[in-house]
Amino acid sequence: AWKESYACWLQYKEIDDASLVERYASYGQRVAVGGVSPVLQSAANECVRGMTSMIGVEPTVSDRITRDATLIIGTKDQVSLEDYGIRTNPFPHLPDDGYVIQTANVGGGVLLLLGKTDRGALYAVHHLLRLMQLRKPVDELAIAEGSRNNVRMINHWDNMDGSVERGYAGQSIFFENGKFADNLERLEDYARLLSSVGINAISVNNVNVGKVETRLITEDWLPEVARVADLFRAYGIQIFLSINYASPVEIGGLSTADPLDPAVREWWSERVANIYRFIPDFGGFLVKADSEHRPGPFTYGRNHAEGANMLGEALRPFGGLVIWRCFVYDCQQDWRDRSTDRARAAYDHFKPLDGAFLDNVILQVKNGPMDFQVREPVSPLFGAMPQTNQVIELQITQEYTGQQKDLCYLVPQWKEILDFDTYARGKGSTVKSVVDGSLFNYAHSGMAAVSNVGRDLNWTGHTLAQANLYGYGRLAWNPEMRIEDVTDEWVRLTFGHDSSVVEQISKMLRESWRIYENYTAPLGVGWMVNPGHHYGPNVDGYEYSVWGTYHFADRDGVGVDRTVQTGTGFTAQYFSPNAEMYESLETCPDELLLFFHHVPYTHRLKSGETVIQHIYNTHFEGVEQVQALREGWRKLKGKIDALRFHNVEERLEAQLANAREWRDQINTYFYRKSGIPDEKNRTIYK
Ligand code: GCU
Repeated sequence: AWKESYACWLQYKEIDDASLVERYASYGQRVAVGGVSPVLQSAANECVRGMTSMIGVEPTVSDRITRDATLIIGTKDQVSLEDYGIRTNPFPHLPDDGYVIQTANVGGGVLLLLGKTDRGALYAVHHLLRLMQLRKPVDELAIAEGSRNNVRMINHWDNMDGSVERGYAGQSIFFENGKFADNLERLEDYARLLSSVGINAISVNNVNVGKVETRLITEDWLPEVARVADLFRAYGIQIFLSINYASPVEIGGLSTADPLDPAVREWWSERVANIYRFIPDFGGFLVKADSEHRPGPFTYGRNHAEGANMLGEALRPFGGLVIWRCFVYDCQQDWRDRSTDRARAAYDHFKPLDGAFLDNVILQVKNGPMDFQVREPVSPLFGAMPQTNQVIELQITQEYTGQQKDLCYLVPQWKEILDFDTYARGKGSTVKSVVDGSLFNYAHSGMAAVSNVGRDLNWTGHTLAQANLYGYGRLAWNPEMRIEDVTDEWVRLTFGHDSSVVEQISKMLRESWRIYENYTAPLGVGWMVNPGHHYGPNVDGYEYSVWGTYHFADRDGVGVDRTVQTGTGFTAQYFSPNAEMYESLETCPDELLLFFHHVPYTHRLKSGETVIQHIYNTHFEGVEQVQALREGWRKLKGKIDALRFHNVEERLEAQLANAREWRDQINTYFYRKSGIPDEKNRTIYK
């Protein structure tokens, strides 16, 4: 029973439809592989594993392409399409990681799984296995597919003591007790999961780099890092390390980490050259600098471009990248100071530097201007830096979205973000077209996201949180995928094809973000959470803190005035017509009203409700919706293995308790502030 939990969407369950099995088996007899590279080996192994498990027959595998092969795994250079009667060559139109899946009428029929590179071949195998798991016909396949995003990355916030910053699924799978974890099998299964959805890069240590982790770039640990890199390489995944900007001082014995100091530059160049001796295809560095007490170039009076370019120069000879985070703001703010606005910070810091970064530097921008709240507008930096590579940073781990106790499927949120039109170059300048590099022709771009994975048997704590990891990978591969399709795929791969199960779980997932939003912080205001761990309500928890995260509720109203007219001027960071849309009370979308405006409780939303009544209504409704989630799940008893059933059931119980607490604290807080009773007279504690 543990297998379903652990295998996630790669369960390869035996197929019981005899005629389908027969068709699949006709291709699953003799597998031929065009080469012996580690990635092609992984592709072949995965193919054998999936086929054997689904159709009950183990294919034979040959490492040469033979005439009698029924399935061929290779690259475009190893197979001539013409030999198989395929006249148009799709490869020139595909990106590097692209692939072709083609059924050819040669002999009794042969399936070609061909990548432009080895990695593409592996993705083609996964595509085929996915089709089989979804019970799709494969007799007439003619697929040519590539990813829009070159960087499809996962960031781990794992520490070497085994803890995971903002981790909700147990200890780290990479580290334990100050060293690398011994369980390589687990890492390999992780690599399989990631590669099955097209992830091609991973940073393994926390962006907050501690004392021990600072040494990961030294001989102390490089052999171990290389071992992990070898393992991930076989699945087409490049390794990155988060670095400590003060390394030259902390481990290099220098007196400064000034990026313009020649000794510092030389130190980094030597370090980097040494890393590449251990890991020839090392991806590069992920850097959190001058952010939340982390060291950075500001200490030396240098700007972020100077800071990043120094590392860029060191990495450039080896093809490495610097991924430089834009999460830079004043975290020592005074709540009395009404002119500083944290939401403005990333744009104010980075926009003036557009064009100043080297070609192998990428800015990593969080999706919103604050910090992964349930609801935020899109960061105004997207579209604002035409001459600077960007990737978007999403948070799969549910720090502010229920911590994998509460159900919150984030694919709908991510779709909204990716589809948002920045108007940077007129209509149609969507965030996805910025981050896929097409709008401005970026040299490097794509998506990154903070992992939600830990050592729990089911990887993500909440079994249904596996869907967020899957969904992230699928969207990073193809941001055009529809929510319904990503969801349907994941549910079928994970729970099978019983239509009542598929419908029920899909519905729960699709509604869950809205539900979570309903019972937590209203109308985009954010931050009404317990300080520190960030789970559960605490309306004033951050109201007088240094973090710049205030809601300004008083007896008359609530919200942050970020308008140009009377507020912090943040709305001006957007392009027209978004700037005007957010600036005006009439056009600002309801769900972001309190992010942009401070309004009286009696202000009427576009929905027709007053703000105060909206707060009451959504909070009562939110709890009822969680009750409905629980009822819906209970209907599935007996249709799902007990382990996963109970895992989710238990968490829905916890979610219900959490939702009640949120409802009552929020309602009581705003009732006490406003003195306005609920129109429907429901219970609000005085
Ligand atoms: C959030 C989070 C921190 C994290 C930071 C970051 O503030 O709470 O744990 O370090 O984001 O993204 O760097």
